[in-house]
Amino acid sequence: MKSVDYDTWHLPVLLDRVIESLSIKPDGLYIDLTAGGGGHSAAILAGLGRGGRLLAADRDPEALAVCEQRLRGVETAAVYEVIRAAFSEFPAWLSEEYRGHVDGVLADLGVSSHQLDDSGRGFSYLHDGPLDMRMDPGLKQSAADLIATVREEDLVALLRLYGEERYASSIAKSIVQRRREKPISTTGELADIVVCAVPPHARRDANPSRRTFQALRMAVNHEQEELAHLLQVLPDVMAPGGRVAVISFHSLEDRMVKQAMRRWESPCECPRDFPECICGKKPLGSSVHSKPITADESEREVNRRSRSAKLRVFEFREADV
Ligand SMILES: C[S@@+](CC[C@H](N)C(=O)[O-])C[C@H]1O[C@@H](n2cnc3c(N)ncnc32)[C@H](O)[C@@H]1O
Repeated sequence: MKSVDYDTWHLPVLLDRVIESLSIKPDGLYIDLTAGGGGHSAAILAGLGRGGRLLAADRDPEALAVCEQRLRGVETAAVYEVIRAAFSEFPAWLSEEYRGHVDGVLADLGVSSHQLDDSGRGFSYLHDGPLDMRMDPGLKQSAADLIATVREEDLVALLRLYGEERYASSIAKSIVQRRREKPISTTGELADIVVCAVPPHARRDANPSRRTFQALRMAVNHEQEELAHLLQVLPDVMAPGGRVAVISFHSLEDRMVKQAMRRWESPCECPRDFPECICGKKPLGSSVHSKPITADESEREVNRRSRSAKLRVFEFREADV
């Protein structure tokens, strides 16, 4: 593999805050479920020592090759493995012996800068390329397949939900009209359709296609379902005192993370007016910070992606003695 400039490939967001929040034990077991180009993984591995183990997973095989190369360059007595897997396959691939013994998990959601910058991946309205958007090229449906078949009303709904797009109806209508004439197969064609579908004043926005592309990417990769699955299974694998750190870039995802952490903190399902708990569900732990962590001014300046990042961290409680 060619040498890679890791900082151009993808600059990890909130790196110091993530490492500090995970409170790494040198001989602990850590899992980075969104290894990408390995920025966070390399820093976690560097914090581990003898007896330590890092499992670095991602659904994108191209990212994993870069991550593996990067991890090979980290001097450490700890061991690591790279694993190609989506959240929805977790924890099926995790050995039985590790379940209940994971000291830290990181999920840095969304796409990497490299995925966006590579026109061949079809994620970006800025570079013309095939309309693909699959993080895992093995997924059955690309963005072109999705917009060739989706019903107009479902397209409106997904543009609203994932893209928070106010011109969802008019964009969906234009897409459906165009696909009757010919299939929409490139990012350039889609970006042009969106620009023509929004009113003239909205074309002055930084980029009127941004929200449509974001929405389609989230739908193609089932990002909401993937995250919901992950938040459901995490408590079963964590060690007492283990920490989960999630970085989100979308309000819908941040809300899901916030609500899951609240549920972990107060899982009791008894009606509010019951004098005492009878469901027996005890708090699993607590949030490490009272508010989500965001990037400071200096990071925002050098890394645009960091501007919308929110980091939430949860600590599972120590075992009762
Ligand atoms: C923001 S990047 C992570 C960058 C990484 N932290 C770094 O420092 O280089 C997000 C990565 O998560 C992966 N990803 C997103 N959703 C995923 C999912 N549901 N399952 C597995 N990997 C996922 C993407 O393929 C991408 O490589």
